[in-house]
Amino acid sequence: MRPIGVFDSGVGGLTVVKELVRQLPGEDIVYFGDTARVPYGIKSKETVIRFSIENILFLLRYNVKLICVACNTVSSFALPKIKNHFRVPIVGVISPGAREAVYATKNKRVGVIGTKGTIRSQAYEQEIKRLDPKVKVTAIACPLFVPFVEEGWLNQDVVSTVARRYLKPLKDSKVDTLILGCTHYPLLKSVIRDVMGGKVTLIDSAKQVAVEVNKILSDEGLLSNKARGRADFFVSDNPEWFKDLAGRFLGKPVKNVRKVNSV
Ligand code: DGL
Repeated sequence: MRPIGVFDSGVGGLTVVKELVRQLPGEDIVYFGDTARVPYGIKSKETVIRFSIENILFLLRYNVKLICVACNTVSSFALPKIKNHFRVPIVGVISPGAREAVYATKNKRVGVIGTKGTIRSQAYEQEIKRLDPKVKVTAIACPLFVPFVEEGWLNQDVVSTVARRYLKPLKDSKVDTLILGCTHYPLLKSVIRDVMGGKVTLIDSAKQVAVEVNKILSDEGLLSNKARGRADFFVSDNPEWFKDLAGRFLGKPVKNVRKVNSV
C-alpha cells in the first residue's frame, strides 16, 4: 500500500501525524519537515507557494497516495493556488477546522488564532463565511506562541501573560469557539483554556484533518489493511533538533529521521 505524505514548515506538523496515527494506525506515513526554511508564518505568499510546490514534489517521489498539508500557513496561502495542479488528493487544515467551528458555535462568534501569514490571508474567515455568512469571526495573530512551544515553554507564567494579551480581543468579542489555527498551538491548549475559560470550545485542526483523510481514503478505496504502519521522517536541516522536539509533539521519540540535501 502506498504511504500518506505529510509536510510542514518544520516539526509542528507532527501534531497532525499524531492524529493520523491515532485514527489510522495501519497507514504508512512519509513526513517532510522543511527545517532549513522554517518559519513560514512570517514569509510572503509567493515564497510559501514556491516552497510548498517543492515539498509536494519531494513527497511524490515516495509515490504517496494523498498529501496532507499540516501547516496552516501553507494551507492558507498556497493550497488554493496549487491544489488543482496535482493529481494526488491534497488535504489542508483550513476547511476541516472551519467546518468543525461552524458546527460547534452556538452564539455564531468564532475566534481564529494563527501565524501572521495565516491571519493575513483571511483563509479561515472566508471559509467560515462561505459555510455560514452569519458567523462573526475575530482573527488574531499570535507570533510568539511558536517559539514558546519550540523552547518547551508550555505552562510558564510568561506564556500566560502573553496569552492573556493576545487573546483579550477574542474574549471581548465573546467568541464561544476558538480555532487553534497553527500546528504548534494544540500544545498550549491548557494555557489557552485557562485564559479563555472552560466554556469556549477549542478546535484542534489536527483531529479534523485526520477525519477528512480517513474519509477520502475510504471513499477512494485506498485505506491500508495493515494492522500497524511505519513512519519515515525527512528534514531539510538539523535532524537532531527535529528529533529532540519530535518527542514533545508526538509524545514518543522518533527514529528514522533523515536529512535530505535538496527538495
Ligand atoms: N507550521 C506553521 C503553521 O501552522 C507554524 C510554524 C511556521 O511559522 O512555520 O502555520
